[in-house]
Amino acid sequence: MTVLGIETSCDETGLALYDRDRGLLAQRLFSQADLHAVYGGVVPELASRDHLKRLAPLTRALLAEAALTPAEVSAVAYTGGPGLLGALLVGAAFGRSLAYGWGVPALAVHHMEAHLLAPLLEDDAPEFPFLALLVSGGHSMLVDVAAVGRYRILGSTLDDAAGEAFDKGAKTLGLGYPGGPALARLAEAGDDQRFDFPRPLSGKPGYDFSFSGLKTALIVRVRDLGVDRVARDATLRADLAAGYQAAIVGSLVDRSLRAARDHKHSRLVIAGGVGANQLLRSELRNRFEADGGRVYYPRIAFCTDNGAMIALTGALRLADASEHPDIVARARWSLEELEPPPALS
Ligand code: KG4
Ligand code: ZN
Repeated sequence: MTVLGIETSCDETGLALYDRDRGLLAQRLFSQADLHAVYGGVVPELASRDHLKRLAPLTRALLAEAALTPAEVSAVAYTGGPGLLGALLVGAAFGRSLAYGWGVPALAVHHMEAHLLAPLLEDDAPEFPFLALLVSGGHSMLVDVAAVGRYRILGSTLDDAAGEAFDKGAKTLGLGYPGGPALARLAEAGDDQRFDFPRPLSGKPGYDFSFSGLKTALIVRVRDLGVDRVARDATLRADLAAGYQAAIVGSLVDRSLRAARDHKHSRLVIAGGVGANQLLRSELRNRFEADGGRVYYPRIAFCTDNGAMIALTGALRLADASEHPDIVARARWSLEELEPPPALS
């Protein structure tokens, strides 16, 4: 049973073939980062048009790489949401049409469920249940995961997502788009003790996150120091980046550890684009594993958007696949609306 996965929720066109018995067979990714960089962020209409341009050639290349014919594909899984509506519609219409043409069922996959299940693509995969820290450009959540489709959101962001905080901080420091990886790189050389940034919601009960106050603190700091001075002084910029990154990571780590302790989880999964952050990975590993827990995360390429996680989720939810010609594209879609897939006969 081989599933073609298609991801187009934002600015990456991701395709992959996943087989229930043989695992990941092939994958392709085209990043539109260069296309949007001049605008300092994703331009939705440009994203949709570029997905449309890439999908057919990438699918052909993918099938050739796996040495498969369309007749050997059992189902098509595409990202049904949440995400940019136009970008989703392109992938959904393409995936649904392919399935129709090939005479196989199609299914709409929840993008955040796919992020959350991405660690199952690795050899060292977590068993259920686990706690998932889902941190991407659009979402920050702590999710209690009992099984596929059994999700309870314990906490989420009250304002900006963690990735957004990285991206906006990077913009303030004059770094390019996408800002998260650039800010993390700059922070490596910096002194995280030089500037004291507020730890959002520190000491407050619950598991929610908040990053907009931190973002404002950085803007005010840069203004007080002088925008020109910050632009000229590389050490100063690195120290600001290090302090800012430490505050974001500190908040994510504190809340995750508390949720794991309160809900008695011994397995913690980090997923989503910000899960690629090395400081977050090492801090969580050091602190959670010191208490006897285990931390799991997918390889960096499967933290950020990709087709492999969509194909995998499609394979796990094959029983949901339908012959109906519906095209599902939902800009907003809560994880808690999902249900476990019916047992496969
Ligand atoms: O999951 P993702 O690829 O797309 C969404 O579904 O949003 O996440 C993208 C986010 C961006 O905000 C990007 O800046 C952030 O993940 N990101 C990082 C790193 N790599 C990607 N943030 C911090 N450190 C990184 N190394
Ligand atoms: Zn994503």
